[in-house]
Amino acid sequence: MYMREGDHVLVEVSNELPDKNITIHWHGIKQVRTGWADGPGYVTQCPMKPGTSYTYNFTVTGQRGTLWWHGHNNWMRYTVYGAIVILPKKDTPYPFPKPDGEIPLVLGEWWKGSMDVVLQQLARSGGAPNNSDAYTINGQPGDLYPCSRAEKVVIPVKSGKTYMLRIAGATMNGEMFLSVVEHKLTDASYTKPLEVDYVLVTPGQSMNVLLKADQTVGNYYLEVRPYIAPNVSLDNSTATAVIAYEGSRPHATPALPTTLPTITDSTSANAFSKSLRSLASKDFPAMVPLQIDRHLMFTIGLAIRPCSNCTLGGRLSGVFNNISLELPKTALLQAHYFRKPNVYVTNFPDNPTSSFNYTGKPPSNIMAKGGTRLSYLPFNSNVQLVLQSTAIVAPENHPIHLHGTNFFVVGMGLGNYNASSDPLSFNLIDPPERNTIGVPLGGWVALRFQANNPGVWFMHCHLEFHTSVGLATAFVIENGPNPEDRLIPPPLDLPPC
Ligand code: C2O
Repeated sequence: MYMREGDHVLVEVSNELPDKNITIHWHGIKQVRTGWADGPGYVTQCPMKPGTSYTYNFTVTGQRGTLWWHGHNNWMRYTVYGAIVILPKKDTPYPFPKPDGEIPLVLGEWWKGSMDVVLQQLARSGGAPNNSDAYTINGQPGDLYPCSRAEKVVIPVKSGKTYMLRIAGATMNGEMFLSVVEHKLTDASYTKPLEVDYVLVTPGQSMNVLLKADQTVGNYYLEVRPYIAPNVSLDNSTATAVIAYEGSRPHATPALPTTLPTITDSTSANAFSKSLRSLASKDFPAMVPLQIDRHLMFTIGLAIRPCSNCTLGGRLSGVFNNISLELPKTALLQAHYFRKPNVYVTNFPDNPTSSFNYTGKPPSNIMAKGGTRLSYLPFNSNVQLVLQSTAIVAPENHPIHLHGTNFFVVGMGLGNYNASSDPLSFNLIDPPERNTIGVPLGGWVALRFQANNPGVWFMHCHLEFHTSVGLATAFVIENGPNPEDRLIPPPLDLPPC
C-alpha cells in the first residue's frame, strides 16, 4: 500500500469472511486526532462483523518510511497483513542518495493448520502456542524448506546498483535476524547511516535498509532466522530469498551458506538495537522531551493468573506491573468519548506494585491480577516510561509497541534499571524514534514521548501470544484546550458492538 507524507487516506474495508470478525490496524501511523481509525479491537473500535464494512479515514502526519498494516483482533494478523510505504512529500528527496530500486520485504510466519486450529491448540495447552511450521519472506519460506523451492522469492539486482529493502516485521512470535550473505547492509530508517552485517526485526518493527550490489556476479541468500531467549523453543529454521545478480542464473541455488547470528545470541540482538541514532538534523529534528512531567516504570513478564477450574493452579498471563489486561465488550475509545462508566478505570500503577529483583532467577512474586486499568495522561504531558524485563516465568526479549505516537528510545541496558545512575547516560541528542522496541532479555529500556495525541492508545507486546494473554494496557490522553487539540467525533459507520 503506497501513500505519501501528508496524504489524506481513506480505506474502505469490507469483511467478506463468512464467520469471523475483523479490524485493521495501520501499524505505526500516528493517527493524529483520528483514534477511530487506529483499529485494535475493543480498544478503538468494535470489530466488523461478517458482511459489514468500515472506512478507515486518516491523514499521514509528519512521518515517512516503511510501516505495515494488519488484522488486530484475536489472531487475525496470522494471515491478514501487508506493507505500507510512505513516500516523502512530492519533490522532497530521501535523506540518503536515491536508491536504484525499492524492494518491499514482508517477514511472516506460517502454520499448516488454520488460525482456529492454532488457537484450539493454544487453549488446550494452557501454555505457549505450537511453533509455526515456517518463516516466510513475501509469503515464501524459500530454498531450505522442501515445499518452497519452485516458488521461492528471487530478487533481481544489477551489479553496482543500490536497493532499498523496505522491511516489515509481520511475524507472529518470532523476532528475526536478517542478512544478505557476503553483503553489508546500511540502515536507512531516517537514522544516521549505519553499516551492519545483519539487522534485527522484531514483530511490529519495520525499517528501510540499503543493499549495495557490490559483490562478484552470482546468487546470494537473503536470509531470516529467529532470535529468542535460550529456553524458549521456536522453529529455528532459516527462510530465504535469492538476490540474483544480472548475468547469473536466477534460479540457481546460492553457493554460500547462511551466516546469521544464532537463536540465542542476545549480544548481537542488543548490539543492533543499541546502535541506532536518529538523524537529528534541521529537516528531521529529534523532538525529545527534556523536562519530564510523569515518570512511569512498568515491569514486563509472563505470570500466573489464578483460575478456579484450571490445571497448574493458574493460567499463563502476560503482565505490565503484574496486571493482565482484560478487554471490555465495548471499545475503550467509545467509553472514553461518551463518558460511559464502568468500562475501565484509570488507576494503572505508575510503578511496580511489589519490589523484587527484576532479573535472573524468578522472584517469589509471580502472580497476575486481571483488570481493565489504564493510565491517564494530561494533554501535552511529557512522559518517561521505563520498561523493565522481569523473566518471571521465562526470560524473553519483549517487543513493546505503542499506538498513537512514536517514542524516543533514550536509554537501554541490562540488569535492573537504576533510577539515580542510569539517566546520567541517557541519549537526549539523537535517540532513535520508533513505535516498537525490544526490551532486552533481563534488561530495560527508557522511552520518552509527549502525550499530544488525544484518544485511547493501546500498548502491548507484539508477540501475538503475549498480547492474547493480556500483556497490554492503554493510555488515555485527554483533549487539549483548543479545537485543533481534540479527538474528532466518531465516524457514522463505526462498527457497533
Ligand atoms: Cu502492530 Cu497493536 O499492533
